[in-house]
Amino acid sequence: MKKSLVVIVVAWAFATNTSFVHAIEFTRQPFIQNSTSQSVDIRFVTDTQEDLVIKYGETINYGNLTYSTNYPGTGGNNNHFLISSLKPGKTYYYQITTSGGTPLTPQKDRSYFFKTAPNENSPFSWAAWGDSGEYGKVNIEALKSAKPDLVLISGDVGYNYTTDFANNNYQLFDVYKDISRHTPFYPTCGNHEESCETLLVDHTLPGGGTMGGQLSTYSWDYGNVHFTALNSNDKFTYLPENLAASDPQMIWAHNDIKTSKATWKVVYWHHSGWSGGSHTTDETIVNNMLRMASDAGANIVIWGHSHTYERWNKKQGFFPNVQVFTVGTGGKTGLTNCTKVSPGPGCAAKITTNKAGFLLATVEGENMTLRFINEDSQVVDTVTLSSDKNGDYKDNEAKVESLISYERLLMLSTTIAILASSALIVIFAKRKR
Ligand SMILES: [Fe+2]
Repeated sequence: MKKSLVVIVVAWAFATNTSFVHAIEFTRQPFIQNSTSQSVDIRFVTDTQEDLVIKYGETINYGNLTYSTNYPGTGGNNNHFLISSLKPGKTYYYQITTSGGTPLTPQKDRSYFFKTAPNENSPFSWAAWGDSGEYGKVNIEALKSAKPDLVLISGDVGYNYTTDFANNNYQLFDVYKDISRHTPFYPTCGNHEESCETLLVDHTLPGGGTMGGQLSTYSWDYGNVHFTALNSNDKFTYLPENLAASDPQMIWAHNDIKTSKATWKVVYWHHSGWSGGSHTTDETIVNNMLRMASDAGANIVIWGHSHTYERWNKKQGFFPNVQVFTVGTGGKTGLTNCTKVSPGPGCAAKITTNKAGFLLATVEGENMTLRFINEDSQVVDTVTLSSDKNGDYKDNEAKVESLISYERLLMLSTTIAILASSALIVIFAKRKR
């Protein structure tokens, strides 16, 4: 009796084509890639193969429509929307549906948007961190408040980033899905990228991410900033007296940075050169990658690997001729024993609390303000840099707004301890009487 009832229900469901129709689902949520002044790429993965529809426009009434197409990637059904003929520096809202009109993202939801790159000299902001992995979720609320227009990840994107699709969702895509649905990420490989190849296939990066003849080497312009991502895992010998005999990514990067006409040149990779954090100084990084960036005329170098935040100011006429940051605080955390005199030329600033965080840069023409924002959205360090058109700094030393150091904290703690001890001695002395 029961069996015949089940058969009837199943037959009815198929006949009416309602109950047993599979609803397509994202197995990797939509994420923005490769924003230019005229185009954007929206990647996603679904559980079954179906061309989807995106509605987009400058208001939540949308007004434009295009279809997805297949894209090579991991995890099965990789599709993307390649949207072109856009206006520079604009915000566009979007909604994704099935070809039949079933919503897959909410309608008129302002958190589903993308921005095109601005024209040269228009203000924008970018964020950077390394060493996030699954731990990156501690920074999500602070990132939502900071609203960067693009994100650089200087390696150790995952612990570990492998060939396993579900693992990589857990390590990266699920962690940042509320951010990456509107903000493009530009990762480079660290020592915890077990499969750098998979990281590159999973993203749409300028030049396929291999512009320097090695994996995870690429560059692009956004507004008046030229960004260059390098790979510190492999082959980075730099010979200043014989550039042609250097490793391919160093030859490429030197040319790439030197020939760029952008106002600002930002270079990032994973391994730390100087650091007093979870990793100490690596002279091979300093003498090859940092020297190359300095010689080629980079303004800013960012590295991770050491789970802390440190800043070295540029000093005119000294090596390196570039501002350097350690930002290995994307989720992993730790302090540093960097002082004003070492390692290297000594830190201008560092963190004093064991909290995660990221660097947030606000670009306004020839001025750039870089702030270290911790996981509680507190501004821990600020420096404002100026650059003229040929990329040389004016002296930025006078513009350092804050310098938080262990030395100050130590001095404060010692003073409090002395005062407390003195008070106790007075109290005991009075009781004895
Ligand atoms: Fe690392």
